[in-house]
Amino acid sequence: MDRLVDIKNLKKSYGRKIVLNNLDFSISRGEMVTITGKSGCGKSTFLNIVGLLDKADSGEYFFEGETAIKGAGTMEKIRAEKIGFIFQSYCLLDNLSVMDNILMPACYNNIKIDRKFRKKIEEYLEKFNLKELSGTKTKYLSGGEKQRVSIVRALAKEPSLIVADEPTGNLDSENSGIIFDELKRISHLGKTVIVVTHNGEVFSNVDRKYRLCDGVLKNE
Ligand SMILES: Nc1ncnc2c1ncn2[C@@H]1O[C@H](COP(=O)(O)OP(=O)(O)OP(=O)(O)O)[C@@H](O)[C@H]1O
Ligand SMILES: [Mg+2]
Repeated sequence: MDRLVDIKNLKKSYGRKIVLNNLDFSISRGEMVTITGKSGCGKSTFLNIVGLLDKADSGEYFFEGETAIKGAGTMEKIRAEKIGFIFQSYCLLDNLSVMDNILMPACYNNIKIDRKFRKKIEEYLEKFNLKELSGTKTKYLSGGEKQRVSIVRALAKEPSLIVADEPTGNLDSENSGIIFDELKRISHLGKTVIVVTHNGEVFSNVDRKYRLCDGVLKNE
């Protein structure tokens, strides 16, 4: 199998609190896995490290076989080009429209915003029931709408790795199903998907399920 991410002996503490304790994790292209665990056990901490937003205190991280934490800018470059985030708190810019929020990462990652790119976004907006809201500032959206916008933003740049923190936390079962189907479809296209979720019913058909407990990932 074509390994995308390989992590060994990861450790992360905040003060005296050990959150990740010699954690090992690996995932191949086209795989989709879920992670559950009690509130505060370290799921977001782990996702932020996998997504190269944050650094562990120690351990090894290989992305596409190369160490991801070397020299200035390596983490940032991989993150910008290859990783799409769906955050627990959405991280949208309130005063920008839905469309501008989605285009924003493309602007600072030097992705050309041409007709093809816009068409893809329009298709996503339609798929996620957001078409009518394209010009609306995100501060006026409901929680579930914001969640869907943040998902379209992550998918638009077609990253190799999608890291999603409770992507259906604010959605009804119909919209949750749409999100799952889309993430599943993308994984079949060779993208890798890591999802933190408590929605085991919607996210039942995945390659592996983990529980984060005592600082390590255990198979469910
Ligand atoms: N920057 C930080 N400084 C200090 N402590 C932190 C920091 N970030 C996280 N923590 C602590 O680390 C632990 C793990 O937090 P994390 O956000 O990863 O949990 P989680 O599993 O995502 O929880 P939830 O399910 O509630 O989102 C928590 O006890 C939290 O208070
Ligand atoms: Mg969290």
